[in-house]
Parts: sequence; C-alpha cells; structure tokens
Amino acid sequence: MMTIKELNDQFGINNNVVFKEGNGGFVFIHICNEYADAELCLYGAHLISYKPTGQPDILWMSKRALFQEGKAIRGGVPVCFPWFGPHLTDNTKPQHGFARLRYWEVESTRKNADGSVSVSLSLQQSTGSLAMWPYPFKAVAEFIIGKQLEIKLTVTNTGKENFEYSDALHTYFNISDIHSITIQGTRDTSYYEFDKDLQKQTEELLTINKETDRKYIEHSSGCIISDPGYQRQLHCSKAGSKVTVIWNPWEAKTKTMNDMEPDGYKTFVCIEPVNAYRGINIITLAPGESHTLAACIEQH
Ligand code: BG6
Repeated sequence: MMTIKELNDQFGINNNVVFKEGNGGFVFIHICNEYADAELCLYGAHLISYKPTGQPDILWMSKRALFQEGKAIRGGVPVCFPWFGPHLTDNTKPQHGFARLRYWEVESTRKNADGSVSVSLSLQQSTGSLAMWPYPFKAVAEFIIGKQLEIKLTVTNTGKENFEYSDALHTYFNISDIHSITIQGTRDTSYYEFDKDLQKQTEELLTINKETDRKYIEHSSGCIISDPGYQRQLHCSKAGSKVTVIWNPWEAKTKTMNDMEPDGYKTFVCIEPVNAYRGINIITLAPGESHTLAACIEQH
C-alpha cells in the first residue's frame, strides 16, 4: 500500500486533492473546489461527505459509524459489489458483497476544465475475493466533485469466462426530518418489500412514516427528494440501473443496529441505484466486457 506522502506526491493536486490519515487509520482524500468539499475513504471507495459550499451535507453519516477493517461504514455511499443484499445462495458471505470491505487503490486524479475534480479508485480480484467469488475483474469507481455529484462504477470482466453480478450505490441522503420529506419518481412502479408479493405504488409522492425497504423493479429513471426543512430539492438521476431501492429502518430496527444512533433514522433516507434484486435484472459480462452504473445528484 502507498504511504500518504507517496499518494500526495503522485496524486495530490494543490488545494484540490489532499490525502490524509483519518478515522480508524484509514486513508481519506479531501477534495475541494469552488463548488463543494468532499471526503472519500480508500476503504470501500466510500464517499463520506459531499458538501456544496455553504450548504448542509448532501450525504448522511452515522455518528456511530465504525471505521474498522472487516466492517462496513454506516452512511455516505457504500459501494455494493459483486452482489447486492444477502448472497443468493450462501448467507455466510457478507451482505452487499465484499467491495465495501476492501482497500481500493488510487487510479487517477484530475482537475477538469469546468473546475470540478475527478478521482478514480480501483479494485481487482485478490486471493480473498476469489475465495468468495471466483472471477477476475476490475472495478473502477469514479467520483466527480463539482456543481453536482457524479459517481460511476464500471466493472470489467478481465477473466476468460462469463460472470454475473449485481451492484449498488447505496446512497444515504442527509435530510432535515424524515417526517416532512417527499420522494417523487416511483409512481406506477412495481416493488417488492419484505416478504410480500409484488405491489405497485399508486401515489405520486412517497412519504415515509414506518420501516421502508422497497425494491422497485424495472425502474430506470430518477427521483426527487423535496426537503422543506433544508429548503432544497435533491434531483437524483441514474444510468445503467434497473432497480431502485428506498430504505429507512425506522425506530425499532435502528435500535438493533450498533452503528447507528437511536434517532439516526430521522435524518436520512437511502435511495439506491441498484442492478439486481433476487436475480432480476442481473448483469452478465463476457470476457473483456464492461458495464457502468452511474448516479448524479444535483441540488435545486
Ligand atoms: C438496503 C437493503 O439496501 O440496505 C436493506 O434494502 C438493508 O434490506 C440495508 O437493511 C442496510 O444494509 P447493511 O448491510 O448496510 O446494514
């Protein structure tokens, strides 16, 4: 692994990209420019914060988040790969795959012509990953920190046989109050929730007033979170994703989670561009092929 000095020498950009040691001894990248400040952790390629200048953070982080190797970080944008949710056949394998539990490498950093900054991190197979999922791959997560936040997760099959995978950008949105926000964009879309049969949302606006864990299928468009308390709308668009998950654990479930404060559920909602649920919309890559899952968040 490269030292902080080596990372700064090779990838640092004056005033825009700085590597430093942070929580749990993990390496963090502080990215800043005229539009926003962001924190990205190499462990998990985990975006911790994206704060437009003078505004509350767009991303929520748990005050009790664990920064420990082998544990997932609660909040921000966990990267789920090569499966989303529980493993389909083996529940001893980690929920949401292993990508969020691995140290990623820095691929490149760049200042763009419009003043935004791009940072790309990569992950490839290792002895540990092959023991869980027997395929060579390269995953590149690109973060573009600018007037809007863009994240692109590109997976390439670098092996000699086809593989199937699913993935997600498990985004925790920072909101003023779960009781007052509305989410637009999932009307007339079918979803699974808990162990129930397929249902369809008929309301134009989704409000959340109980534990919610909806997996909307055949949903390729975006959502808008309207937040009267923060006087903002977050426009979340996506590409390369056919499933959208909307999750809030509500009060009782939150109490069972050791890495979330008891009232944490009141100030976030997860809206996640996802690629497969129970094998529906799973991605197949032949050798040499790539697929990109992309998300863009704009504040209005
Ligand atoms: C969501 C799932 O994407 O992630 C939920 O739909 C799950 O079922 C949630 O509880 C959190 O998962 P984890 O592994 O980060 O606690």
